[in-house]
Amino acid sequence: MKKAVLFIAVLVMLNGAAGMSTLGAQETGPTAVISNHYAARNFTSGAVTQGELDRILTAGLRAPSASNRQPWYFTVVRNHALANQIVPNMPDGNILIIISASGDGKTNVREILDCGLATQSIYLAAQALGLGSRIYTGPMDTINRRFKTDLGFPNGYGAVALVRIGRVQPDVDAVSAASFRKSLDSTVNYR
Ligand SMILES: Cc1cc2nc3c(=O)[nH]c(=O)nc-3n(C[C@H](O)[C@H](O)[C@H](O)COP(=O)(O)O)c2cc1C
Repeated sequence: MKKAVLFIAVLVMLNGAAGMSTLGAQETGPTAVISNHYAARNFTSGAVTQGELDRILTAGLRAPSASNRQPWYFTVVRNHALANQIVPNMPDGNILIIISASGDGKTNVREILDCGLATQSIYLAAQALGLGSRIYTGPMDTINRRFKTDLGFPNGYGAVALVRIGRVQPDVDAVSAASFRKSLDSTVNYR
């Protein structure tokens, strides 16, 4: 117990020293999802419905892209055995949406930026529907080396990022979701 209190006290001190802050009170206004989102940690089992997926994927399609090129391709991995080889130890019902584009996923900078925006739209749309979501780039090398054929990417496409989506209990998950964020003071200037 004493250790926990000490740990929190140190965190608070470091937080102040580095000009950082925890996420504030939950916003309820029109930008609520953009302001309140967090990377889910404690996914629970339970299916993501096709209706939810359709809305999430449509939000991805709606993302802006340079010259409206829309370079992305979305692969929905519902097969649990395959998904678990990419992100281990997922509860039943979690799905992955892999965002790929023409190129190797490392040097195709223009496609990567556009795909990043589609990734964020998918991530936010899931949370707007009350689901949990988390972006991953860690498994990209493994995907691009081992799973491109199994995943059915178009020829010459490489994975850029994936979004894991599943059910969460927000009250439980949010307890561990108070990541620090830099402060406005340390991040913004005006001229
Ligand atoms: C481009 C990108 C790549 C990420 N890759 C991973 C990953 O490979 N594994 C992982 O557990 N989380 C990954 N994350 C999640 C971040 O760790 C998380 O968004 C960040 O720590 C902020 O967490 P919070 O929103 O809960 O505060 C990634 C996030 C982004 C935006």
